[in-house]
Amino acid sequence: MWSTISTWPFSLQAVEKASQILAAGGNAVDAAEQGIHLVESDPKVDSVARGGWLNAKGELELDAAMMHGGTLRVGCVAAVKGFEHPVTIARAVMEKSKHNILVGTGAEEFADKCGIERADEDRLIMPAARKLYEENLKKLEEEQEIVGHDTIGLIALDQSGNIVSATSTSGASMKTPGRVGDSPIIGSGFYAMNGAGACVATGLGEDIMRTCCSHRTVALMEAGLSPQEAADKVIYSATRAIIDAGYHCDCMAIVCMNGKGEIGASCNHQGFTYTYAHEGQEPTSVVVTPIIDIGGIPNETKHTC
Ligand code: GLY
Repeated sequence: MWSTISTWPFSLQAVEKASQILAAGGNAVDAAEQGIHLVESDPKVDSVARGGWLNAKGELELDAAMMHGGTLRVGCVAAVKGFEHPVTIARAVMEKSKHNILVGTGAEEFADKCGIERADEDRLIMPAARKLYEENLKKLEEEQEIVGHDTIGLIALDQSGNIVSATSTSGASMKTPGRVGDSPIIGSGFYAMNGAGACVATGLGEDIMRTCCSHRTVALMEAGLSPQEAADKVIYSATRAIIDAGYHCDCMAIVCMNGKGEIGASCNHQGFTYTYAHEGQEPTSVVVTPIIDIGGIPNETKHTC
């Protein structure tokens, strides 16, 4: 038995690739990495690696992570520049480094030592991203809000029972250089533990981090909740906690899977879609109804970022 799930409609190509690998008996690490590669290379996906949103200095800075639920080994990279496949650097950190998280030039030099290929700026930064950057500079001058912070998060469960979570993102549009989102932060943007399950998140990293959405979801599945119950409980509770504390809550969404390959998904805003596949089920996209909708509750309080 195998199963895979991933965030957003753009993950369809990743789920298709991961499914082929898992169905052929491949392992969950390869499935997650190779699935995410397709999205990282797709210039039409404006929030992940090539074609992704730029930071406040007009640079492409990438975050990614991978966690193996059988070994609990983890690899995370943040604020990486000049690479098309940050998830491959994350995998290398997980498999070859004694550390869990590498950032900036340290991560880039580690990638060089591992023989991971660099990519030119001309390949990584698309004209559309530069145009959006110029428009956003004007918006910032006019004190308008900048939106944009989507992630590909993918979970793969292979036929040996190993579950892996992985993420990749260019992070929040117009972020301060050096800003790290939730996607490479253990327990926030991702988590995996064989038997209990795995979770990945997308949305505004600052809110996902302060509520540790992914580890909480896995812990609830470990305690016996179904993936859907766990996901709904965490998104509802995290959103309520931020708003009740008097702060603005931004978009948050998660997808999760337990050790049996059963899936769940939850969000606090309209428009979240995930894609999944498992044995006997072709890749399928599903629109999620929010368990709590930040568009429909008073939410005009203090911004924290
Ligand atoms: N969830 C992506 C980010 O905030 O960086």
